Amino acid sequence: MSIHIAAKLGEIAPTVLMPGDPLRAQYIANKYLKDAICYNQVRGMLGYTGTYKGKTISIQGSGMGIPSCSIYVNELITAYKVQRIVRVGSCGSLQTDVKIRDIIVAQSASTDSSLNERAFHGKSFAPAASFELLLRTYKKAEELKTKVRVGGVISTDIFYDEPDFWKIWSNYGVLAIEMEAAAIYTLAAKHRIDALAILTVSDHLVTHEACTAEEREKTFDQMLELALETVITF
Ligand code: HPA
Repeated sequence: MSIHIAAKLGEIAPTVLMPGDPLRAQYIANKYLKDAICYNQVRGMLGYTGTYKGKTISIQGSGMGIPSCSIYVNELITAYKVQRIVRVGSCGSLQTDVKIRDIIVAQSASTDSSLNERAFHGKSFAPAASFELLLRTYKKAEELKTKVRVGGVISTDIFYDEPDFWKIWSNYGVLAIEMEAAAIYTLAAKHRIDALAILTVSDHLVTHEACTAEEREKTFDQMLELALETVITF
């Protein structure tokens, strides 16, 4: 047991898929895993372990934002020796050519959080995806004929920010905004594990479009299948 995760040692797989929403973790476990057990209900942040095509995989909710997500990632790595974390989440597009329902593979994660400014004493660290995971995901996407966009995202601390705050990131080619990837990539680097964020575009900061619940579910499934089919190649 760790402070926020009730699993016994050995109950969490070396590979974890990590949605922000704990009910998404439940949805993934119910829909895709065989013989799933729920190993965590502390604070409602559901975690499951089961098998997908014979390989043991865990699904752990992260909650929203860097502070919540960092707690779970830290504990998964240090207490449960997790080796691979794939965030499966949603994001808002910052580019006109990145459309609602597109799937983004986050190569890098800039941030307006102070997490690295603090850790690096004012200097800047570049949170980046695991190349191995990114490469395998890209190849799997080609094999599955799932269209993906690979590029940078910004992990923000503020969902309800000032108007136009996002334009500085958009001007530098950042594809989309979300709230967790920079922390996952930073902790993965610190502890020498592999991490990647795969995201579906649920809303658009340029055009103000948003997905319907039904569209969100369908695209989410396509992204999940990509993540699951990739992690079982390890
Ligand atoms: N901002 C931050 N995080 C998000 C957004 C957004 O617009 N959409 C999905 N995750």
